[in-house]
Amino acid sequence: MENKEKTIESLKEKIDVSNLPNHVAIIMDGNGRWAKKRFLPRTAGHKEGMERVKEIVEVAAKIGIKYLSLYAFSTENWKRPEKEINGLMKLLVQYLRAELNTLHKNNIKVQALGDISKLPLLPRIEVEKAIEKTKNNDKMTLNIALNYGGRDEIIEATKNILKDVEMGKMDIEELNVNTFNKYLYTKNQPDPDLLIRPSGELRISNFLLYQIAYTEFCFYNIYWPDFREEHFYRAIIDYQKRDRRYGGI
Ligand code: IPE
Ligand code: IPE
Ligand code: MG
Repeated sequence: MENKEKTIESLKEKIDVSNLPNHVAIIMDGNGRWAKKRFLPRTAGHKEGMERVKEIVEVAAKIGIKYLSLYAFSTENWKRPEKEINGLMKLLVQYLRAELNTLHKNNIKVQALGDISKLPLLPRIEVEKAIEKTKNNDKMTLNIALNYGGRDEIIEATKNILKDVEMGKMDIEELNVNTFNKYLYTKNQPDPDLLIRPSGELRISNFLLYQIAYTEFCFYNIYWPDFREEHFYRAIIDYQKRDRRYGGI
């Protein structure tokens, strides 16, 4: 066996399968800088980043992660040049067209986090198609965060709760952490146990603000297009060393 394969195998062996994070969230950051370092256009970084999406989705499902949330496009990313946004949307369409059958075959359920009604028509159709086709799958749920913002999600939830109260569908006294959860894009899903952010930035950038109350964080100094299977295993091993106290002792 080659050295690299050996490293990957030995990392994999270190994972305690009885203590896997149920839900892993990833802020896929650093594509632009990865490309810049190679004198390539930013879109080339996004394209390479998409290859890592394929890889990590497969690896996560294989080791038994039940929920994987990938931050693909934030509510703030609309600030970027139109050319870059179009490139990202095109890649999303390409990804779904190329991968939907494999995702379905691997029993993966695709869900979107964020207001996908604001996406351009073509990516929106592909996302809706993926959600519909895979809705009964149950090996792993793949949440793709698209036009997602944590603050928007909380505000949207609040509005919908107020509407339901107004229409008599909900009693305000029933509002608690459990009932609030049902108004989020992640309804019926557990909170992330582990959040991974490559790229060197030490911030949340509006991702899953409500859900990360007790999430463990792993930050990496590499760019997302360089994030491989071995880094994913390292993050899980690191996570398994954490003492999660939830405010207790
Ligand atoms: C992440 O990479 C992809 C998206 C935000 C869509 P970036 O494009 O943010 O790359 P950097 O952070 O500029 O290097
Ligand atoms: C976060 O990355 C959003 C995604 C990865 C989709 P950004 O590159 O947009 O975040 P900031 O601007 O560095 O905070
Ligand atoms: Mg970035």
